[in-house]
Amino acid sequence: MPWYSFDPIADTYDATRTLDVRAIDRALTALTREFPPHRFREVLDVGIGTGRLAFPFARHGYRVVGIDISTRMLERFRRRRARRDRRAVGALRADATRMPFRDGAFDMAYWVHVLHLVPQWRRALDEAVRVTRPGGVLVYARTEGGRDIDELAAEYLRILRSLGYRRPRLGARRQETVLRYLGSLGCEVERRRVRWEWEERVSVGEALHYHSLRTYSMNRFAPLEVHREAMRRLRTWAARELGPRNRRYPVMGAVAFDLAWIPR
Ligand SMILES: C[S@@+](CC[C@H](N)C(=O)[O-])C[C@H]1O[C@@H](n2cnc3c(N)ncnc32)[C@H](O)[C@@H]1O
Repeated sequence: MPWYSFDPIADTYDATRTLDVRAIDRALTALTREFPPHRFREVLDVGIGTGRLAFPFARHGYRVVGIDISTRMLERFRRRRARRDRRAVGALRADATRMPFRDGAFDMAYWVHVLHLVPQWRRALDEAVRVTRPGGVLVYARTEGGRDIDELAAEYLRILRSLGYRRPRLGARRQETVLRYLGSLGCEVERRRVRWEWEERVSVGEALHYHSLRTYSMNRFAPLEVHREAMRRLRTWAARELGPRNRRYPVMGAVAFDLAWIPR
């Protein structure tokens, strides 16, 4: 299993990648105005994970099929679906770089926090373009926020660098790079400035706890003993710079979409 597999963190994933219900509802209400589900019914979620966005999409009238490479994330997805009985959402295990769908099978395809994890991210985009019909749309969704504090995450990475470990580059890092590639495939790309925001409050102890569990990919590329040493130093740093474990910090959450139209 590669270090960036989501299998080991499937159980903590939902607790740490929060999404404000009202913000996502407002964001999807705007999206449905532009892409009404009666014309854009069939939707693909690339890297669906536990279905964090797929269920809200289904609530807004889309029929969503997701793919994911992680068996454990898909197990969490299925448990969630059983609780909610959302028959308009399905998922299967597949690699984004080799999708098991016919050409033009979907009216819309979207992804959230996936391409930075896929070494062959261009092939994943080729596939997304192939399986979306002419005149359909690709949605590059981004979300921010969760149970982490930016300064703490930056310090963790700084400590790892001081211990001789740099975060490896896996897939596409920058949104501009992805959009430029989609443009080179003939898609009409549109960056959107609009964001739907919310504010959360995260305690120092909570943020440290999730880092110690190796919840984020940044916590997993170094060997376990290096991560433990980094955590020891991070706790000392946090006590000095961020204060007691129960002190809460505001964290901005947001959801935003960029678009790319498949040429007719
Ligand atoms: C950060 S999670 C995002 C999950 C979901 N999109 C969300 O926003 O909550 C990344 C997901 O992409 C999946 N993934 C990574 N590489 C993949 C690939 N080549 N094909 C399909 N899924 C992949 C992981 O297993 C994981 O579930």
